[in-house]
Amino acid sequence: MNLTEKLNWRYASKMMNATPIDNQKLENILEAIRLAPTSFGLQPFTVFIVKNQETKEAIFNAAAPGQPQIPTCSHLLIFAAYRKITAQILDDYFELINKTRELPQEKLEAFHDHINGLVTKSDETNFVWASHQAYIALGFGLVAAANEAVDSVPIEGFNHAILDKLLKLEEQNLGSVCLLALGNRDEEKDYNAKLPKVRKPKEKLFVELP
Ligand SMILES: Cc1cc2nc3c(=O)[nH]c(=O)nc-3n(C[C@H](O)[C@H](O)[C@H](O)COP(=O)(O)O)c2cc1C
Repeated sequence: MNLTEKLNWRYASKMMNATPIDNQKLENILEAIRLAPTSFGLQPFTVFIVKNQETKEAIFNAAAPGQPQIPTCSHLLIFAAYRKITAQILDDYFELINKTRELPQEKLEAFHDHINGLVTKSDETNFVWASHQAYIALGFGLVAAANEAVDSVPIEGFNHAILDKLLKLEEQNLGSVCLLALGNRDEEKDYNAKLPKVRKPKEKLFVELP
């Protein structure tokens, strides 16, 4: 299958069959998430991986009872964005750039000045911005899952405050943004599995400007 065929194969699975996915496939999906681009390259989020069945069930029962994919998936990924962009976060990032690229000091300082403005913005603004970056990584994860023939579903329909409390995210300067359940579809019980895709026609979505 080429990429377009794989993207037609993927769909938002509503029920999985509780079988595990191959470890190498999971690693490839995680690597795509790690390689996703982010604004300034800051990657202002953490992705938690939940394999433990009790933890998946605790999340389902407390924060997302309308999402039967959670207890039936193989792995649940939780994308959590930084609540605050602190000077320490930026310093750590510069250290990483310096270690990786060995940029001349003046270039590093210019970049530092450029992104330092983030620290002076409000935490609310930065959290929304950080959440946008997490969504891009979610998209990379979705495409990578399709590429690996792993079923998936992005999930926003959960109680963020309850999940944050359950996982003590605020204490870690994090707030939950979205989830990605990975697993294998339940062909019989998943009513979404056989439905045709609903998408706008090309002419409605893309507009060429003169
Ligand atoms: C950001 C995001 C959040 C979503 N949240 C949920 C969700 O909470 N529960 C769910 O069953 N599907 C969720 N979906 C799946 C969409 O409903 C689905 O992708 C859309 O209807 C298109 O169908 P398809 O993915 O099967 O092609 C979400 C999708 C996205 C991109």
